[in-house]
Amino acid sequence: MPHHSKEGKDAHPLHPPTEVLTRGFDPRLSVGSARPAVFRSSTYVFSSPEAAERAFDIASGRARREEGESVELIYSRFNHPNAEILEEQVVPLEPGAASAAVFNSGMAAIMTAFLTFLRPGNTIVYTLPLYGGTVHLIHDLLQPWGIQAIGVPAGDGPALDGAIRAASNLGIVFIETPANPTMVMTDIRRAAETAARRPDHPLVMVDNTFLGPTFQHPLELGADMVLYSATKFLSGFSDMLGGLALARNPDLIAQMRGRSTMFGNILQPDECWLLDGRLPTVSLRMNRQSKNAQRIAERLARHPRVRRIHYPSLFDDAEQIRIRDAQCDFPGAVFSMELGSREAAFAFLRAVRLARNAVSLGGVETLICHPKTTTHSGLSAEESEAAGITEGLVRVSVGIEDWRDLLADFEQALNAIPASSGAPEPAAAQPR
Ligand SMILES: Cc1ncc(COP(=O)(O)O)c(C=O)c1O
Repeated sequence: MPHHSKEGKDAHPLHPPTEVLTRGFDPRLSVGSARPAVFRSSTYVFSSPEAAERAFDIASGRARREEGESVELIYSRFNHPNAEILEEQVVPLEPGAASAAVFNSGMAAIMTAFLTFLRPGNTIVYTLPLYGGTVHLIHDLLQPWGIQAIGVPAGDGPALDGAIRAASNLGIVFIETPANPTMVMTDIRRAAETAARRPDHPLVMVDNTFLGPTFQHPLELGADMVLYSATKFLSGFSDMLGGLALARNPDLIAQMRGRSTMFGNILQPDECWLLDGRLPTVSLRMNRQSKNAQRIAERLARHPRVRRIHYPSLFDDAEQIRIRDAQCDFPGAVFSMELGSREAAFAFLRAVRLARNAVSLGGVETLICHPKTTTHSGLSAEESEAAGITEGLVRVSVGIEDWRDLLADFEQALNAIPASSGAPEPAAAQPR
């Protein structure tokens, strides 16, 4: 029996911060526990052989669940109460979503989406840069299996339109916006409209890890599916891996669940429980992290050793500003700094005292990394060059520490970069 109640779900539409705390979990089904229990069982006892048969018919897609029907749980690779609770509770956080599925990492969510909706002979069109792991997946798995992959520079609307129109057997348009780590934005609505004009209706998927679910809502802009590394802002403490897929059309999620049952990549009960407990504070954390990042990025942009900061509130390109204003509420917690050379970037990473030199982002603690040699080292030289992932680029994910402490730390680390690295002298340079 599902351990959540859908009773009265649509009677009074509630705001997301209320819904996330009040739907999806019925304490009566957990011996009155005010917060969900963890159900670690790998298998579930059926009330009758008929109930078991019915559960298998529905799980395998041979039958459809009737409106209001309660279907028994089977086995934790298929589904379990903590996944059901989490999947119900996360839906109101993503405007436009009707259904969600949870995976054991962001890559698992992305891989499952690709392997559910692509067939040999299909094409995937994607924006560049993308998270390095996604690029690997496209080059090392999809392409050798007969899927054509067409990369288009992020933010280039006409090029993306052209690729979507020209592609043969287009299955998926995959957009990461803002792009990791250059923060270049791609117009989601425009891509969705262009894709919708094709008779074969390719699915438009957005990796919303950087600004969602709080500041950017792709499903409301026409995307079919939103994907997350829940490892990042959704869980928020750099202490677990997780992934999510959300869609307007529950059938898409049901198809992915079918694949996930084969792959065995559903998120485990303990992790679901942990992530579930973090959902009510996602927007509180993201708002604080975004405010901190904006204050720091806008001040560091004037530091003479910083050649350029890639951050939404500092965009100077008119089209990028237009896209930002059309699809993002706030700039978010991640920015990248161009320091001019690998030597300068490494000297900065060595000198920083408060932020940690680690990959990943979105946690309450500030993390910095050198994308070219770490997260994005799998990109070809041409891909890195085209995407602007240079030797001098440092990515910063700002946490919830006091921003003044972080700013002071970054400034002392910038001042510590040796002049031999080619960086301008702080005292000699004119503030910008
Ligand atoms: C934008 C983006 N998408 C997907 C992923 C992959 O997520 P995970 O590490 O949870 O598999 C990452 C990880 O860094 C990411 O930054």
